[in-house]
Amino acid sequence: HMNIGMQPADAKTWFGAAPPDLTLVARVRGTDWLYGYLRSFYEDPARPWGVNNKVFPNVGMPNVLFGLQGRQVVGCKQVQIVEDGKKQYDPLTGTALTHEACDQLTVLPKTGALNEEQFNEKVKNLVTFLAYSANPVKLEHQRIGTYVLLYLAFFFVFAYLLKREYWKDVH
Ligand code: HEM
Repeated sequence: HMNIGMQPADAKTWFGAAPPDLTLVARVRGTDWLYGYLRSFYEDPARPWGVNNKVFPNVGMPNVLFGLQGRQVVGCKQVQIVEDGKKQYDPLTGTALTHEACDQLTVLPKTGALNEEQFNEKVKNLVTFLAYSANPVKLEHQRIGTYVLLYLAFFFVFAYLLKREYWKDVH
């Protein structure tokens, strides 16, 4: 179990909300949500801790992974046009076709200890850990499940033969 060391009353004063119990959070929110959430903190001077979150608006939690990720800001930037999952290029010059998209998250270069790829990997590992700790017996369940299915398949043959034997005289 992941117990919270903070007193709920203190947490309310400092962060506006008590940190939730993270033991089952991967089952409650799902791993995709967690992966997005932990990567979506951005600078917002209007918030008490100077950060907001795209996935969890006006979140009370500070950005604890700030040192690794760096300063992420929200704004407009050029993004490559993608159609049917394919990046679009100018047929004549071969340059990437872009358009300006706003409300985009960008990490300011060299403000964090890790680059984007390393940071994403770190968050993936963290979320994987949360998923594991939320359901540590899952692998064991899958292993046992295989045997259960094998047993049922084996049993089916005998159950069918028995049924055929019983019904032989009924028809
Ligand atoms: C790597 C460490 C951490 C992880 C993975 C993490 C994860 C999360 C998640 C997933 C939530 C949203 C839960 C939900 O409502 O479904 C949350 C909320 C919160 N976390 Fe963290 N947290 C971490 C560290 C911290 C720390 C160090 C603090 C305090 C100093 C903190 C304070 C809070 C608070 C106050 C909330 C509630 C936000 C609200 O309801 O507005 N967290 N955290």
